[in-house]
Amino acid sequence: MSEVPNDIDLSRIPKHVAIIMDGNGRWAKKQGFLTRMRGHEIGVEALRDIATASAEIGIEYLTVYAFSTENWNRPKAEVGALMELLVSTLGKELDTLQKNEIRLNSIGQTDALPKKCQRELNEVKDATRNNKRMTLTLALNYGAKTEIVNAVQTISEKVASGEMKSTDIDESVIDQHMFTADIPHPDLLIRTSGEYRISNYLLWQIAYSELYFTPVLWPDFKKHDLHDAIRTYQGRERRFGKTSEQIQST
Ligand code: IPE
Ligand code: IPE
Ligand code: MG
Repeated sequence: MSEVPNDIDLSRIPKHVAIIMDGNGRWAKKQGFLTRMRGHEIGVEALRDIATASAEIGIEYLTVYAFSTENWNRPKAEVGALMELLVSTLGKELDTLQKNEIRLNSIGQTDALPKKCQRELNEVKDATRNNKRMTLTLALNYGAKTEIVNAVQTISEKVASGEMKSTDIDESVIDQHMFTADIPHPDLLIRTSGEYRISNYLLWQIAYSELYFTPVLWPDFKKHDLHDAIRTYQGRERRFGKTSEQIQST
């Protein structure tokens, strides 16, 4: 724990941090690389460092946006290269996950990913399933609107078949039909690269998350940037609709 700055309160670490890892392409361009892929490759290194730093500081759930349902609209070559990068990364990072006791998980419609990706993903998920320190969730072919549509479909089928009454539907039922069913909602959502949008990420789950936007491009996002985000988070007052006086009196 020696690497954690002492102005960070270890008793108030966000339990779940979600990240929109953005800016790989712009990073590659800025560095003078001819292809955006170099940015994605260095982005993987940033993720390794941030996942390790997150486990070290006591974050229990880290959920990262790796490929959105909208990202299929990118040039075919980039989509193909991203899928290849996913396969090679999963193959290479098992050691890091095991060493840091990180369990790998995924959300999104992974059954539409290339078979090779699915195989590799399932292998690493399986190999790390008993790790207890942190759950790293990759959002892959993830879109929040699709997630909600799927949940509504499944729930209505249950109502139609009589398994459930429409009046049984409450927030917790909806929660249980999301990809994130076994994960608490994010306390903190970070987006890198200076964009101020959510891009169809975890719409239901971030209803009360603290939002943190930084101009830093994802490949440049380092442990100290994560610490900055956590410091900012710890400086906020989460009121959940109450008054500041109510929060302070408890
Ligand atoms: C984020 O970086 C990674 C993915 C969306 C896969 P981008 O590739 O979106 O980088 P920019 O936003 O074009 O710089
Ligand atoms: C969001 O980034 C998706 C991921 C980080 C995987 P994008 O770069 O795809 O988002 P937009 O298109 O700029 O909103
Ligand atoms: Mg982008």
